[in-house]
Amino acid sequence: MEIIRARVLGFCFGVRRAVETAENAIAENSDSLKKIFTLGPLVHNPVVMDSLGRCGVQVIDGSSFEMLDKKSVVVIRAHGTTPEIIDSLKERQVQILDATCPKVHLSQKRAKEWSEKGYFVIIAGDKNHGEVVSISSYAKGYCKVIENAGEASDLDLPKNCVLIAQTTFSPVEFEKIKDILVSKNKELVIFNSICSATMERQEALVGLKDKADGIIVIGGKNSANTKRLYETAASICPKTVLIEDAEEIPDSFLGMKKVALTAGASTPDSTIERVELFLKDEK
Ligand code: F3S
Repeated sequence: MEIIRARVLGFCFGVRRAVETAENAIAENSDSLKKIFTLGPLVHNPVVMDSLGRCGVQVIDGSSFEMLDKKSVVVIRAHGTTPEIIDSLKERQVQILDATCPKVHLSQKRAKEWSEKGYFVIIAGDKNHGEVVSISSYAKGYCKVIENAGEASDLDLPKNCVLIAQTTFSPVEFEKIKDILVSKNKELVIFNSICSATMERQEALVGLKDKADGIIVIGGKNSANTKRLYETAASICPKTVLIEDAEEIPDSFLGMKKVALTAGASTPDSTIERVELFLKDEK
């Protein structure tokens, strides 16, 4: 069997940095009584979360801060968090390891600075996504999250406003939203903060069209960017499957001559390697 990997696949820079932050914390505190927590799931990937859990890392949210004390280490995930949560962690004197992706930090900074200048902040994104919650918190309530072009059409714009995108937002939907808002306010300040990592994985996948008998997309079934990769893969190849780890590879793929692989931005190298090895062993 020939296995063709997408040119770009797996961990993005921000997720790799967050996972390495947690792994380093585990290594540095293995002999101490410190307990390591992540603020929310570090990545949307059960393989990574199980592995961190086996090393004693616990996931907490704002409702379980009573567990924290001076011996706690808290890793902030790539999505970032709110200033209120940071203050609350500082009050408890925990050690904070901030793994907020620098691209999310930039959007937080823009939301803060522009809202302080009196600009209404519009965020194109998923209202419940951790990153969007963190960015909007920096605008101190002078902010609205819209998820699609329909919501952009219904929006009344004040004179001064600024548009920011969730880093993993759909570029197509963002363009539609932008055009609608600009038609209402020509002075709109626009930051297309969509991260290139998502696009790079999508483009590399499209480059695999007609090159393999089937495509395997590897990643968490609860990961938005992995699901989007799966949808694209299914549109270019009828024999496409989404799996979280090697044991889920369907038998129908084992007799193929060429299989293409891609993986979401929260899929670790080790899982991609396990899938590749499994396929090679089956030849
Ligand atoms: Fe950061 Fe882009 Fe990944 S914003 S977390 S590098 S998808």
